[in-house]
Amino acid sequence: MRKKIVAGNWKMNLDYQQGISLFSEIVNMANDEVIGEQGIVICAPFIHLHGLAQLAGSRSRVAVGGQNIYFQETGAYTGEISASQLKSTGATYVILGHSERRAYFHEDDNQLSRKVDAALKHGLIPIFCIGETQDERESDRYFDVIRTQLEEGIFHLADGDFGDVVLAYEPVWAIGTGLTATPEQAQEVHAFIRNEVANHYNQNVANSTTILYGGSCNPKNAPELFAQPDIDGGLIGGASLKSRDFIDIAKVFNR
Ligand code: 13P
Repeated sequence: MRKKIVAGNWKMNLDYQQGISLFSEIVNMANDEVIGEQGIVICAPFIHLHGLAQLAGSRSRVAVGGQNIYFQETGAYTGEISASQLKSTGATYVILGHSERRAYFHEDDNQLSRKVDAALKHGLIPIFCIGETQDERESDRYFDVIRTQLEEGIFHLADGDFGDVVLAYEPVWAIGTGLTATPEQAQEVHAFIRNEVANHYNQNVANSTTILYGGSCNPKNAPELFAQPDIDGGLIGGASLKSRDFIDIAKVFNR
């Protein structure tokens, strides 16, 4: 059985105190209400990570992640954060290739492949995001776009390393828009992604790859999305800023 994960992406929201307070609520609710093997992750701005990791400690079931790293090890890169720096906060995950980073900060597949390598080298689990824009969907190019993102961003990894990666399908047109992909649309792409993984690696690797869905996921639509055979959880933006909503989404996997 592959791992189910519900990960929150706080994006550039919450000051330090607000982040600590929301995370405390999430940890308490997760400890009281979430019953199952599903992983729960909060990907927060860099300033929060050490505080959140301290709060989570070793007993909480909520893991902490970043939203980006730079691929260089160390040096004169003002304003950037390396994989080892991120790891030293206590974070264990990192989102890479989010569409907002690709669009606003011009991150391309080549840079992303180097970020993936840096993350793995330092023991961080990448949550690698892929997905098409509205234009690419409407012109029926979405399978090609996603195949290229996989081939150029992450398929350079050897089998063993690929096993440590989580994929997230986030159709850009569904992010923050309230427009969710239908369960059928999401399942179609998730099955395609799993098939690409099987073609590039093998069926065993494909069967054990966790593939999350992201884009206007909420407690109402999560049950139907997560019931799809190739959807293994969610990457949650807006709804991860409300403890009740986020925990209710995580509880979809309660046994
Ligand atoms: P929303 O859930 O706000 O649509 O954001 C999704 C997302 O981008 C998660 O990374």
